Amino acid sequence: MSRKLSFYFLIFLATICIFFLALNQRYSNYLEHRLQPILSDAELRSRMKYQELFTVPTTKYDDPFWSYIRGTYAMESVALVEIADVVEQQRRIIQKEMEDYVYPNGKYDVYANKLDDLVIEKQGNPLRSVILTTWRSGSTFLGDILNSHPANFYHYEPLLHFGIIQIRDPPLSDEALENLDSMFKCDYSSLERYLSFGRNSHPWVFNHNTYLWKQCQLHKRICWDNRFVTKFCKLFPFQSMKIVRLRLQPMEKFLEQNELGVKIVLLIRDPRGVLQSRKHRDWCPSEPDCFDPTALCSDMVSDYNTAARFSKLYPNTFRVIRYEDLSVDPYSHTEKLFEFYGLHFHENVQRFLDTHTKTDIGGLSSTFRNSKAAPFHWRNDLDFEEVEEIQQECNLAMKLWGYVFALNETHQRYFDPVTNYSLRDSEA
Ligand SMILES: *[C@@H]1O[C@H](CO)[C@@H](O)[C@H](O)[C@H]1NC(C)=O
Ligand SMILES: *[C@@H]1O[C@H](CO)[C@@H](O)[C@H](O)[C@H]1NC(C)=O
Repeated sequence: MSRKLSFYFLIFLATICIFFLALNQRYSNYLEHRLQPILSDAELRSRMKYQELFTVPTTKYDDPFWSYIRGTYAMESVALVEIADVVEQQRRIIQKEMEDYVYPNGKYDVYANKLDDLVIEKQGNPLRSVILTTWRSGSTFLGDILNSHPANFYHYEPLLHFGIIQIRDPPLSDEALENLDSMFKCDYSSLERYLSFGRNSHPWVFNHNTYLWKQCQLHKRICWDNRFVTKFCKLFPFQSMKIVRLRLQPMEKFLEQNELGVKIVLLIRDPRGVLQSRKHRDWCPSEPDCFDPTALCSDMVSDYNTAARFSKLYPNTFRVIRYEDLSVDPYSHTEKLFEFYGLHFHENVQRFLDTHTKTDIGGLSSTFRNSKAAPFHWRNDLDFEEVEEIQQECNLAMKLWGYVFALNETHQRYFDPVTNYSLRDSEA
């Protein structure tokens, strides 16, 4: 009997040993996978298929610990494979779109003559076209014109998460410039604040970026993952950026040592038009940087002085345009701006102008409108008293930028508010 008992006891012991051995094996397998450096896209692709991911690592230990580990492991791997797939797909789309592109090839100081020259993942340098302006100054219109160019990655309001403020000086401007620098370099690993701002119910951080948003609709899981956005962004030969929260002076940092090749256009609009347009925005009235004509126009004066200096120091990388001039003659101004940026005036851009500058359809922020009339609505929508108040606060800014004063109610309704201006260095 004791023999029989010890026999059973031995079997019992052996079972326990085998059990622990198996467990240990599983766990070290798991650790090995977790501690592996992240595989390159190609490796990942060849090693894994979606199918396998859901079954590896399978264990028969179905307690919460193991299913948790299995879950995170599988989700993580699926995300990495999905990122690699979408990036590869986009790479092909861009190559196709760029087949007949006319490269600058030495014109306008830009020497790119093939796609790789402009693609970060191939150690190239994309063309980086910046619009610097303030809220409601026509930047949606100009931003969409730039974005109608093929293979463009649109950094839409990169400083959205700073709130409704104007950034003028350090230390805030230093932080802002760091953000811009990371975006130009497509390094989203340090932009978690921006990404989480977008992820948490501010989709317009991304939804103006046509190519990115299209993929985001299909691949919601990876859309706000910094690893995805970084790789995705690095595929694009063209980047455009619209900035409405930072004044011109701090941007000198990019023009001074311009190894990124950033080109900046300052977009200016009649303060009466700006303030009329802002009245329709519910986020505006509580923020002085937004509703106060004094703040707007003192920024316009300091931007004027900076612009006068920049246009002498950086004639190839800095330009000014007024929204009114652009709207009245969108074709010739767009052509000139594209030359300045080094961009080809592509048929897509022409088509965009054909369809967006003639009729008036769509809502407030729509750029489907009669572009010739859009900048001048304020003449009918503002009372003469409101106009007078703005003109008092904005006297100097309006003179510098070539805007004509309305003299009375009747005059306001029909006069031409735009005249010449020239950039003179007022400190000289
Ligand atoms: C408004 O100003 C215009 C231009 O100076 C002038 O000709 C006109 O008489 C003025 N109208 C009124 C009602 O004051
Ligand atoms: C506007 O420009 C034209 C031609 O360049 C010039 O003759 C005229 O004097 C300018 N007007 C003002 C107000 O600067």
